[in-house]
Amino acid sequence: MTQRPASSSRFAGKKISIHDVAMRDGLQIEPIFVPTEQKIDMVNALSRTGLKKIEVTSFTSPKAIPALRDAEELMKAIDRVQGVTYVALIPNMKGAERALLCAVDELNLVLSASETHNLANTRMTRERSKRVHAEIIKAAKGKAAVNISISTAFGCPMEGDVPAQDVIALGDWFVEQGATGITLCDTTGMANPGQVEQICEGLIERWRDIELTLHFHNTRAMGLANALAGLNCGITRFDAALGGLGGCPYAPGATGNVCTEDLVHMFETMGCDTGVNLDALIACSLRLPEMVGHDCPGQVAKAGKSDRRYPAPADLEETRARALARDLTETAA
Ligand code: COA
Ligand code: ZN
Repeated sequence: MTQRPASSSRFAGKKISIHDVAMRDGLQIEPIFVPTEQKIDMVNALSRTGLKKIEVTSFTSPKAIPALRDAEELMKAIDRVQGVTYVALIPNMKGAERALLCAVDELNLVLSASETHNLANTRMTRERSKRVHAEIIKAAKGKAAVNISISTAFGCPMEGDVPAQDVIALGDWFVEQGATGITLCDTTGMANPGQVEQICEGLIERWRDIELTLHFHNTRAMGLANALAGLNCGITRFDAALGGLGGCPYAPGATGNVCTEDLVHMFETMGCDTGVNLDALIACSLRLPEMVGHDCPGQVAKAGKSDRRYPAPADLEETRARALARDLTETAA
């Protein structure tokens, strides 16, 4: 079978924007505190891979998320590479005030589509989160972009199904309030590609003046398939975590995000243009196990890219001679 060259794929040249969230979504669930120096080195290395956005940390309560208690120090120490948007996750006004003092480029405000997860995660009702976030959007005007991450948008591990119309209505409301972006988050990997297409179809047109991003977790091995379903709906912005780290400590059953290098590898082999230097990204990923003290779920860093080639078996010529001789004997017979 001849492989169709990626250049003739219908996705050829499609520009894709990849946002890495490993330093926030990844480290927030790790039981260890990664020293700030190591975080700075990793953000600086990621900044030079061609990623469009890097979520550096969160400005949450240090009691709730002790792994990210060095948010100010980290945010102020990293290099700001031109063309990269530096993001921080924010749950409330106190977090927004802290982030603005550090000149974060984009505040990523989090609330959940399901009431139970919103209460568990932020100790606020959704109504209160909405009010607080609307105030933050006003306070950040002219200072930082404001993205709204809607958690449990494809299902809640405690409540179950989340009506798609509720998620879309939440998004509509935040677009009206002046948010510059919306991210639909599958917090515990409950989404499937059919559902992603159902929810996402038409959203690019509906929210045409904002950036629309998808955020998948690979908990049930559907992360890449879900991303492809999103692309089929015209969505070209994706969150992912280096090495496939990730998970929300307040969502039972949460595991890693879709892996950044696996996602980039998929899109690039399809002929899309992520602008990411995959070798540099894999080199970053290979440093993670030492940083977090365990193996990471990502696959491409272990298997190598699909253009990796191995030497043929050492006895290939003998095997060929034997096979040819057998062909000759059988033809003669
Ligand atoms: N940054 C730092 N400290 C904060 C803070 C913030 N953004 N928000 C609240 N605090 C502090 C308060 O100052 C107060 O401190 P004190 O006890 O020394 O007086 C304490 O936390 C309690 O404040 P309160 O407003 O009652 O917050 P809370 O206890 O209801 O917690 C959140 C609310 C949102 C701050 C907390 O639940 C949180 O940080 N959750 C993390 C959510 C998250 O990141 N999840 C994973 C990503 S999806
Ligand atoms: Zn997540």
